[in-house]
Amino acid sequence: MKKTTGFTPHFLWGGATAANQIEGAYDKDGKGLSSADVVKYIPKEERGIQNVAMDVTSDYIEAVLAGKVNDRYPKRDGIDFYHRYKEDIALFAELGFKVFRLSINWARIFPNGDDAQPNEAGLKFYDDVFDELKKYDIEPLVTLAHYETPLELTRKYNGWYNRRVIGFFTKYAETVFNRYKGKVKYWLTFNEINVITHFPFAAGGILVDNIPGKTKDQIAYQGAHHQFVASALVTKLAHEIMPDAQVGCMIARTLAYPHTNHPDDIFEAQHYNDLNLFFTDVHAKGEYPTYMNRFFEENDITIEKEIGDDEILKHYPVDFISFSYYMSITVTTQGEHEKVTGNMISGAVKNEYLETSDWGWQIDPKGLRVVLRDFHNRYGKPLFIVENGLGAFDKVEEDGSIHDPYRINYLSKHIEQMKEAVKDGVDLMGYTSWGPIDLISMSTSEMSKRYGFIYVDQDDDGNGTLNRSKKDSFYWYKNVIATNGDEL
Ligand code: BG6
Repeated sequence: MKKTTGFTPHFLWGGATAANQIEGAYDKDGKGLSSADVVKYIPKEERGIQNVAMDVTSDYIEAVLAGKVNDRYPKRDGIDFYHRYKEDIALFAELGFKVFRLSINWARIFPNGDDAQPNEAGLKFYDDVFDELKKYDIEPLVTLAHYETPLELTRKYNGWYNRRVIGFFTKYAETVFNRYKGKVKYWLTFNEINVITHFPFAAGGILVDNIPGKTKDQIAYQGAHHQFVASALVTKLAHEIMPDAQVGCMIARTLAYPHTNHPDDIFEAQHYNDLNLFFTDVHAKGEYPTYMNRFFEENDITIEKEIGDDEILKHYPVDFISFSYYMSITVTTQGEHEKVTGNMISGAVKNEYLETSDWGWQIDPKGLRVVLRDFHNRYGKPLFIVENGLGAFDKVEEDGSIHDPYRINYLSKHIEQMKEAVKDGVDLMGYTSWGPIDLISMSTSEMSKRYGFIYVDQDDDGNGTLNRSKKDSFYWYKNVIATNGDEL
């Protein structure tokens, strides 16, 4: 009898990217600046313990616009996908991709965010990309907002803190739905929507310092409310304009474990997980979960809602749940323990059973199965893993080959657990590993933090030929797809 993987015959295998991390051409063909275009490169030695370089202030933005600073912005140049998309898509086709996740850079379509008319050159670029994908029968999976809010929306409205941005976003979504209906069936509203509570500027174009008298949480949860309403409204629009469209929400799922079996630790982990799952709860169940009432009260957060918001959330839940999964974290209330540094999450303690990546992310394949089963039991909706992967240093050998067994090892172990979850009964639509082609790191703007099956010749200083070449993992993933996950 033929061995069966458990994956459906139409399982969507592929890879995931974001416009600001690959396209480049940041000011070409009418594109406006986005939030990502003013995030400067900071060398590792200066990045600090959490290893993140994403914060900006309004003074800094104004200085950039006035030409008064001389910093480097790697996300402006990406890996030049804008001019090389045909070559890159041909490589994805060679890998056997069924799906390619990309984002539309909002500021390419509405350069200022609040323009009366869209930018035709921007619309045309994505038409060309979707047509190229179609040649190879690769389905696009399109994120509407992936950490690239038009910068003018920050300068004029302070981003998603301002309710008016809902209207600009729905107009943008309506424009691209009407333009790409028939070409794009799978849509995601906000990438890692929960990240707004950690990085309000990156995920919401919000400058917290410009709102005196409010805490970061008060500001971020208000911004999140506006995004929830916008997400529901565009889900409604998508279904009206494209009856066969499938719309998903997207969170960064960071599974929390208790460090000890002390009940306080069990509770701490549950609380952390609830705060994470709050974002999918709203999207999937169409209402704010009651467990947030106490959190809001204790943190002095009053969400300003308009009449009708609750009905909008209730009536337009998402069709599927998507998420990124890179690592788990461990939390404790029980004294001091060795911390994990560099993973962007303050307070996480080291889990002695797990290996840690060079960037401090604790590698936990089994956690993916836990997460999938939890999601399935909580919502009963189809699931889509739209990001997973290992950021690692690669070495190019003299003959040009790149041996990356660590990447193959990471991915195969995660896919193995995903396979188990499917056998457990989880309804999984697909899997897009993060950065199938090396790209600019979101959190650090480095190039040397590589996720790809395809190597891109560019270093952290932006030097290199940008030539593409295949790593060992390229051939490995190609076979995974060809055997529908049988051979890992
Ligand atoms: C996710 C983001 O958080 O993680 C991506 O959606 C990002 O944009 C990915 O690139 C990996 O993070 P990093 O910081 O290694 O690029």
